[in-house]
Amino acid sequence: MTVIIDGKKISSEIREEIKQKVEELKKKYNAVPGLAVVLVGDDPASAVYVKMKGKGCEEVGIRSFQHILPGSTSKEELLSLIDKLNNDKSVNGILVQLPLPDHIHENDIINAISPDKDIDGFHPVNTGKMVADVDCFYPCTPAGIQELIYRYVKDLKGKHVVVVGRSNIVGKPVANMMLQKNERANCIVTVCHTAARDISVYTKQADILVVAAGRANTITGDMIKEGAVVIDVGVNRITDPSDSSKTKIVGDVDFESTAAKASAITPVPGGVGPMTIAMLLFNTVKAFELHNK
Ligand code: GUN
Repeated sequence: MTVIIDGKKISSEIREEIKQKVEELKKKYNAVPGLAVVLVGDDPASAVYVKMKGKGCEEVGIRSFQHILPGSTSKEELLSLIDKLNNDKSVNGILVQLPLPDHIHENDIINAISPDKDIDGFHPVNTGKMVADVDCFYPCTPAGIQELIYRYVKDLKGKHVVVVGRSNIVGKPVANMMLQKNERANCIVTVCHTAARDISVYTKQADILVVAAGRANTITGDMIKEGAVVIDVGVNRITDPSDSSKTKIVGDVDFESTAAKASAITPVPGGVGPMTIAMLLFNTVKAFELHNK
């Protein structure tokens, strides 16, 4: 029987642990962790994510500061807000929701966030530490993916992880994390992407397949090894095949044919998605502890 990895349940267990931790910290320091979330523009998906992040904070007792700015916001205005948040003692973590409008270069903003408040783990200081296997803020979606993999596969040493996709948010960091030398990693890692003539050459070799390609149906059952563990990071809105007047959310993996061959698989929705928020809250608490050390 294929195991359906329940990200929603695991995320809720982690959030319960975080809630208890926040209560302890409140007693100890008479203060709670604070997370500033910045959204520029009116991308509907980003607006939903930002709202969910605020709600996630509230549920565990983390203070959330939401800054919703118009799409016309200049780079200078955004940098000035980042500077204010960097210097605000009640803010332990700063998250600027990506993507940003075209006129603002993401790296200019990410580089301005103080590395010790970079709970997204996107600042080059944190990226460098991650690559060098030094403790840091790990990007939230890759950290969630690693948690799901580790809960299901205990003996990871020498397992072949194949990552499809090379984004800065998922593909590259997850590959680096699974390469690290600790019990939650220690894997052989291959990254394949759009330049591959035939990705199935790589995906068929995976003990653990992480798919972050950003396209529905990138992986079908014939492209995996029998018994592989499949982590689907995709979020794609498609026309519902059973009712063309409706849309539905699917991952990057064709669930039916892949689940028939996999030993375990994450569903979409309800797999990786809920884990991202749990890891964001985890990183915010980690930042608070760092600032109060
Ligand atoms: N956009 C999509 N995923 C993320 C994320 O993990 N963090 C931020 N800041 N923006 C995103």
